[in-house]
Amino acid sequence: MSSVTSNIESTLHEDRVFAPPETFSRGAHIRSAEEYERLRAEASESPDNFWARMAEELHWFKKWDTVLKWDAPHAEWFGGGKINVSDNCLDRHLETWRRNKAALIWEGEPGEQRTFTYLQLHTEVCRFANVLKRFGVQTGDRVALYMPLIPELAMAMLACARIGATHSIIFGGFSADSLRDRINDAGCKLVVTADGGWRRGAEVKLKPTVDEAVKETPSVRTCIVVRRTGTRVHIEAGRDHWWHEVIETVDAHCPAEELDSEHPLYILYTSGTTGKPKGILHTTAGYLLQAHLTTKWVFDLKDEDTYWCTADIGWVTGHSYVVYGPLSNGATVVMYEGAPNYPEPDRFWRIIERHRVSVFYTAPTAIRAFIKWGEQWPLKHDLTSLRLLGTVGEPINPEAWMWYREIIGKGRCPIVDTWWQTETGAMMIAPLPGATPTKPGSATKPLPGIEADVMTRSGAPVGPNEGGYLVIKRPWPSMLRTIWGDDERYRATYWSEIDGVYFAGDGARRDADGYFWIMGRVDDVINVSGHRLGTMEVESALVSHAAVAEAAVVARPDEIKGSAIIAFVTLEGDRKATDGLKEELRRHVAKEIGALARPEEIRFSDQLPKTRSGKIMRRLLREIATSGGVQGDVTTLEDFSVLEKLRVHEEE
Ligand code: PRX
Repeated sequence: MSSVTSNIESTLHEDRVFAPPETFSRGAHIRSAEEYERLRAEASESPDNFWARMAEELHWFKKWDTVLKWDAPHAEWFGGGKINVSDNCLDRHLETWRRNKAALIWEGEPGEQRTFTYLQLHTEVCRFANVLKRFGVQTGDRVALYMPLIPELAMAMLACARIGATHSIIFGGFSADSLRDRINDAGCKLVVTADGGWRRGAEVKLKPTVDEAVKETPSVRTCIVVRRTGTRVHIEAGRDHWWHEVIETVDAHCPAEELDSEHPLYILYTSGTTGKPKGILHTTAGYLLQAHLTTKWVFDLKDEDTYWCTADIGWVTGHSYVVYGPLSNGATVVMYEGAPNYPEPDRFWRIIERHRVSVFYTAPTAIRAFIKWGEQWPLKHDLTSLRLLGTVGEPINPEAWMWYREIIGKGRCPIVDTWWQTETGAMMIAPLPGATPTKPGSATKPLPGIEADVMTRSGAPVGPNEGGYLVIKRPWPSMLRTIWGDDERYRATYWSEIDGVYFAGDGARRDADGYFWIMGRVDDVINVSGHRLGTMEVESALVSHAAVAEAAVVARPDEIKGSAIIAFVTLEGDRKATDGLKEELRRHVAKEIGALARPEEIRFSDQLPKTRSGKIMRRLLREIATSGGVQGDVTTLEDFSVLEKLRVHEEE
């Protein structure tokens, strides 16, 4: 799905349009296309006034002096303001009737349930914030969170935000090496983890991975461990402490720090086009503002809603749309720890029925898996509580969109296909469900305040339905501020590819109605099941194995995952190409990066096809991986015989 051409083909013929249901529009926060256009016009004519008006929705200790200082490519939003994210997500609700409203309804994979009201969540967060302080964490320090999807993860985030510690969440599927590198890059002082978590009926151990990682992380002094699975773990005296024990040693009084608008809220690592992941830095006020507004607008969130975003908090979707956006809106959030097909493929539908979920947000890769498992699973359940469906993470093919609409939404629920990135912090292009007619496969139009466009590589505008590069022409409040420790890379990656605009790394086209159709990545980033992986990252992992001389990694379209990773590998002279070695290399990548990076397929080759300047011709490899053949210009190939060998291999 991530190949530009396959998406152009799959979407060009799509001409179905679905108007927002009248009953939905009547009750929506934004009720008509005219209202949307008014907001968009206001934002584009006077952006500072627009964002200032919007920022009134947050609770400030002190209002800002300036809305935006833009010293390209560096933005300072709401300078002079004092604010706290944890205060906005918790304390402000305590003064209202929401005090005893459910904030989190959590289900563990084995089936246990825990519910926290806003008051209860506030208490737990304050206590954990005091634990952090007790272990010497101060405003500005970094804290690593490597945890399963349990309430303590949300508590730890909010506790960090409360005292001004910057959190760095590392998805629980990453390996010890990945964890170590991320901890070291950010210089984290403390790690919060758990003994393990549950996934598809099996325990995913986390603490042993932390033990291995922290052997080489000099900055880490303390590790706090949640008891989740009850498995035996090593507790290093002086360094490791059980959450349930240390939480008893503190009280629940912890006022939220009055932080600068630009105080660093979190770092989240994401793959880029080199072997080293980028630490995307988000700050406080601007990030919160857009997470808050987009949650309210795009999910049309109301107090009566029961909202469920299925993302793991280890990814940006979980940051913005499991925790910060919904809680700042005072929503009731469902959290589920485990797999969608445990114990059976109807687990999600069971959860929707049990908790009467009304707004549901998931990924196209999950929808394609549901289609494969069969509609008998959702049909067994009462899904009438649903009123809105969302997707994120990759382009959704119109077939999956229609299935989602008909089988899950019964034709009643608007679908919001939301385009955004770790870097953008919040949704950028997405329908407003009461206002925007939707087209299957299109993320529709930019949200008010977002100036998105499609350009050629040289920065010229493109006409309707012409493919080009997706760019953002104006700074926005929740934009990344830099790459942690590497501002040069920040400039080079996002602000130098096309002069004067933010380069998203996605291909797109805009149709005659101004609707955006995202066509997937245009760089060496692969989107596997909605998660980003750099080809270079996987290549570096392969090359770190003693048997491998050289490796090239490409994406092959995959029915469920969107893209699958295919690796072409040249071995060191003395090594034999065997099936056993293939397996070993796949395991090696999983160990180096994490299971999500394990190649679907490994192909051995004597050499890799290269241009005269020595660049690997990935386009050719992609074609070979996809179709077996090669078309197009090959005159720049260094050695034609290489191609023949790869092809022969394909025919075997
Ligand atoms: O290629 C786009 C794709 O996911 C990339 C961002 O990945 P990540 O930073 O991991 O964040 C994922 C969750 C926001 C984008 O560059 N992408 C995300 N949403 C969509 C999408 N592609 C098409 N349509 C979407 N709705």
